[in-house]
Amino acid sequence: MRTLEWDSSKQQLQMIDQRALPSKFELIYLDTYPAVTQSIKNMTVRGAPAIGVAAAFGMVLAAIHSTANDVEAMRRDLTVAAEELGASRPTAVNLPWALKRMLRTASGSFESVQDLRDELLAEAQRMADEDVALNCQIAAFGAELIDDGDTIIHHCNTGALATVDWGTALGVIRLAHEQGKNIHVLVDETRPRLQGARLTAWELSQYKVPYDIISDNAAGHFLRTGQVNKVFFGGDRVARNGDVANKIGSYMLALAANTNHVPVYSVIPTSTIDLELKNGDEIPIEERDQDEVLNLQFRGKPATPANASARNPAFDVTPHELFTALVTEEGVVYPPFENNLQKIMQDK
Ligand code: MRU
Repeated sequence: MRTLEWDSSKQQLQMIDQRALPSKFELIYLDTYPAVTQSIKNMTVRGAPAIGVAAAFGMVLAAIHSTANDVEAMRRDLTVAAEELGASRPTAVNLPWALKRMLRTASGSFESVQDLRDELLAEAQRMADEDVALNCQIAAFGAELIDDGDTIIHHCNTGALATVDWGTALGVIRLAHEQGKNIHVLVDETRPRLQGARLTAWELSQYKVPYDIISDNAAGHFLRTGQVNKVFFGGDRVARNGDVANKIGSYMLALAANTNHVPVYSVIPTSTIDLELKNGDEIPIEERDQDEVLNLQFRGKPATPANASARNPAFDVTPHELFTALVTEEGVVYPPFENNLQKIMQDK
């Protein structure tokens, strides 16, 4: 089953509720674009590629429920919806990328509002199908980097759940396992939302890939003591020079890997590359509610004092010099990243 799927008969977007996993597998059905905006904000759906495609279907819902009588008026409604959907989370560039693509589709010539609706749905479906196909391509390139016997640290969740299906960094790991390579994954739990402990561990259990969950702060120990061969994570936005914004904790992990001469790979579709940004300093970093950090229990009781406050940046930037390579559907990109990213993006 896909993380998100369009239900044509009900005209609804069906998605796996990622907040309920791993204790419950629940589906949620959305029939308005504000509901899609909310699902991205509250992380019912998460992961850069998945939120991009969710927003595309949000635009389809905006078109379905628009009361506009002519194409021009519907385009105005779509612009409003794109602004709202686009403001739901700021870091992953896949979100504005998908919305721009939908608005470009809407700018074509249409005989009727129904034709425009039909074309938007077709474009969102294409985006969903492309996501799955290019993740499989990424996996084929990335799996070549994995050797039999490797132990890999993986951060956050980059699997089927973070995309429409298959996944990026975790898709690489999954394919290497399916190729018969004997690999072991150390799963960073990924505080504070626990995407690693909850979602990556859940996916790896299903794929029967051997793993152990580690607390994020154990990664340095495993790297320094020579127990890790490679570090793999995803990416939410890659600047022109190859700096990568990804889940908070990625930077610390890459630093420790570099100091210990362990290769670091960020696995990304080209829709995550933002050539408009010179470097990672220009990437907007989402800061989420402090309760995500403070709502923590120790022996069944609150772990923090009642009046404690917290900071909660959801992403950090790993400078390009800490990466061995970036893995994309166009192939494995090595330094110098600025030149080589430009090359693969030429026809995009
Ligand atoms: O806050 P999240 O869970 O949406 O963050 C997700 C990540 O940081 C992933 O690593 C990234 O989106 C790549 S997923 C293919």
